[in-house]
Amino acid sequence: MKYILFGIFGAMLSSWVQAADLTGRWVAETQAPNGDKRQTVFELKSEGDRLAGYLVSTQGDDWIADGKISGDSVSFTVIGDFYGVERRTQYTAKITADGLLFKMGGGARELLAKRVSTEAPKNAPPAAKLVLPAPSGAVRPNGLAKTPPMGWNSWNKFQRRVSDQVVREVAAAMAKNGMKDAGYVYVNIDDTWQGTRDAKGNIRANEKFPDMKALADYVHGLGMKLGIYSSPGPRTCAGFEGSYQHEEQDAKTFAAWGIDYLKYDWCSASRIFEVSSMPAVFAKMGQALADAGRPIVYSLCQYGMLNVGEWGAKAGGNVWRTTHDIRDTWASMAALGFDEQMGLEKYAGPGHWNDPDMLEVGNGGMSMDEYRTHMSLWSILAAPLMAGNDVRNMPPEITAILQNKEVIAVDQDAWGKQGARVAKNGDLEVWSRQLAGGAIAVGLFNRGAERAKVTARWADLGITGSKSVRDLWAHADREKVSGEYSADVASHGVVMVKMW
Ligand code: GLA
Repeated sequence: MKYILFGIFGAMLSSWVQAADLTGRWVAETQAPNGDKRQTVFELKSEGDRLAGYLVSTQGDDWIADGKISGDSVSFTVIGDFYGVERRTQYTAKITADGLLFKMGGGARELLAKRVSTEAPKNAPPAAKLVLPAPSGAVRPNGLAKTPPMGWNSWNKFQRRVSDQVVREVAAAMAKNGMKDAGYVYVNIDDTWQGTRDAKGNIRANEKFPDMKALADYVHGLGMKLGIYSSPGPRTCAGFEGSYQHEEQDAKTFAAWGIDYLKYDWCSASRIFEVSSMPAVFAKMGQALADAGRPIVYSLCQYGMLNVGEWGAKAGGNVWRTTHDIRDTWASMAALGFDEQMGLEKYAGPGHWNDPDMLEVGNGGMSMDEYRTHMSLWSILAAPLMAGNDVRNMPPEITAILQNKEVIAVDQDAWGKQGARVAKNGDLEVWSRQLAGGAIAVGLFNRGAERAKVTARWADLGITGSKSVRDLWAHADREKVSGEYSADVASHGVVMVKMW
């Protein structure tokens, strides 16, 4: 303890010449109203007069940003995440002989943090963001995802409540309830599975996942595949351990566990790297996966920034998110599906797909018409079909939507050509997708509040002559038509047909 205090005095004496070095672990003990002792732990790293590091918490560490040391004054912002919403808290402290004396609640309360070690926090963020040049070559394609990946992901429904047990139950349910047979084979664990690293830096799962390898074996035993989630930053979006500076090591660990799919989410990498570094940052993990000796589908998640379609495949990506997070509402789904995908179709093809985010079908926030629109649009968009509901417990009308084999066949069409909007008349939209063998899939959508007649004209569809028509939701053949095809479409609903 003495040398620590001495260190602080020394730092103070020289503070007008150079900023105090506050690197280390600082612990403040407080007493809760019920008498329980609580600890607040700061892991700090000084770089000149800048300060970086973490506020350690059991939920995953919060981030220290804009840290400044000026004389005996310290200030920084703690950036936390509260269910996906960023929370910023301002901290100011004085460097005193006893430690860092924080003024809380506008100065009403004081918190004294004492230094218990001078070790720098692991994975501490750099004081200035890193700029990496775009890689000159491309990661060798892994040959996976010839059609858009299909499966399930834990985030939309379970968020932090995902566990080994949930994943086992979900996989077992999917193997039995028709989901697997319909093509949904990836069972993907999203954020919050991560624990700490061991002394050698190997990532370990937290207590919710006692044995990841055993879980993979179990899922494989059902004829399905297991996916996992990480971030190129030191922390994931929910504040858990990321792969920053452990990329090769984590890729090898995932391969050793038997992982088949990785979603790699930018998150805190924004505090380490300039946005322009994205191609290099994602290629680093792409290469690490290619070298890990196991085929692993690589899913980029950086919300479509920096025109990801231009470089996602070169970074080794099989799919890349093109949007911010979907929510289980008509407004969110419609904005992502109808409005944000146009023009991206040129980037999609076998092995590499645009990803407008995971399905919300069955989560309760939309009507059946809206969920049918969701499923139809995603299939015309050649999007990955990642169910995001509780598949252990599906009402028949949800099963009928997720397992509509005729619509899935459009999504999984072997030609892999993403469709697009071909006509728009106010709230009424016609979308089409060319299919292998010369057929086309056509979606007649009604985004309006009233039932309406939607018409697809041959000129807009780029076809001629008379066509056979199959209604993919009614599962019924319609009469041959030429010139145009019209249908009466429910509010927020769709009529989806195949024509040849
Ligand atoms: C981001 C992603 C989501 C989900 C969460 C998990 O918000 O876009 O899909 O993975 O992180 O924290």
